[in-house]
Amino acid sequence: MADTDNLKDTKDYYLDVPAKGGSFHVKGASALDWGMQNRLARVFRPGSGRTVMLAIDHGYFQGPTAGLERVDVTIVPLLAHADALMCTRGILRTTIPAAFANGVVLRASGGPSILKELSNEQIAVDIEDATRLNVSAVAVQVFVGGEFETQSIHNLTRLVDAGLRHGVPVMGVTAVGKDMVRDARYFRLATRICAELGAQFVKTYYVAEDFETVTASCPVPIVMAGGKKLPELDALTMAYRAVSEGAAGVDMGRNIFQSDAPAAMIQAVGRVVHERMKPEQAYDLYQTLKREKVGVGA
Ligand code: R5P
Repeated sequence: MADTDNLKDTKDYYLDVPAKGGSFHVKGASALDWGMQNRLARVFRPGSGRTVMLAIDHGYFQGPTAGLERVDVTIVPLLAHADALMCTRGILRTTIPAAFANGVVLRASGGPSILKELSNEQIAVDIEDATRLNVSAVAVQVFVGGEFETQSIHNLTRLVDAGLRHGVPVMGVTAVGKDMVRDARYFRLATRICAELGAQFVKTYYVAEDFETVTASCPVPIVMAGGKKLPELDALTMAYRAVSEGAAGVDMGRNIFQSDAPAAMIQAVGRVVHERMKPEQAYDLYQTLKREKVGVGA
C-alpha cells in the first residue's frame, strides 16, 4: 500500500513564472505528436537544430562498398561522433552496438541492385520492425522524374501513413537518375513533393546555384546528401555552404568513411554543421586530428 502519511503540502506554484509551452526546434514539426518529436530530437540536436548523419546504407543496392567492407572495424569507432546513423536493418542488427543511443535512420526501401533499374523500389521494412528496432526515422528513396516515379512516391506515402500511426518520422531521399539535370529547379520540385506528401524531413543534394531556394521552399528540414568522394576541403566547403543556405545538417557517407582519416573528417564536419566553423578552419582541424589520430577507437 502506498505510504500516504504526512504528505507534504503543495506550495510551489511559481505563479510569477509563465508556463513554458515550448516551440519545437525542428522545422515544420511543431504540430507533431510527442513520440514523433522525441524521435526527431534524436536526429536533430536541440542546441543547433542540425544533424551530422553518417550514411552507411549503400550496401542495400550495391553490396560491399569501399570503406564499408567491415562496418564493425571502420564505422563503429565513428559512432561517437555521429548525431544519427543511416543504415539498413541488417547492419543494425548484426553490427551496431545496441548501446548506441543517438538517432538511427533506417533504410526502408529497396529492391533493385545496381544491375537493374534503380527506381523500381518497394517498401523493404515493416513499420512494426522499425518500432521494434526503436529507430528514430525511416528513409525512402523517391525518384521524381524516374521510370518508377509513381511507385516510389507511393512507397513514401504508405510509409508516412504507417509512420504517423506509430510515431515514426519519414525521411524522403531524392534520387537523381543518370540523365537528370541536378539543379535547384529539379530539387525544389523533388523536395517539395516529398514534404507535401508527408515526409518529416528530406535528404537532397547540394547545388552551387540557388540552393537557398530549395531549403526556403521546403516546409520541413533539408539534410544535405554527401555524394561522391571529394577532397576533404571541398566536402567541408560544400557542407558549410549548405548549412549557411538553410540546410539542417548533412547525411554524409563516402565523404566521411572514404576519407584518409574518417574520425578526423566526421569531427570536422560536426564543427562546420553545429558551429558554422569556416571550411578552411575545419580543414586545419581535420589535418590536426588526422596527425594526432584523435577520436579513433570505439
Ligand atoms: C543513396 O541514395 C543512399 O541513400 C546512399 O546509399 C547513401 O546514403 C549515400 O551517401 P553518400 O552519397 O554520402 O555516400
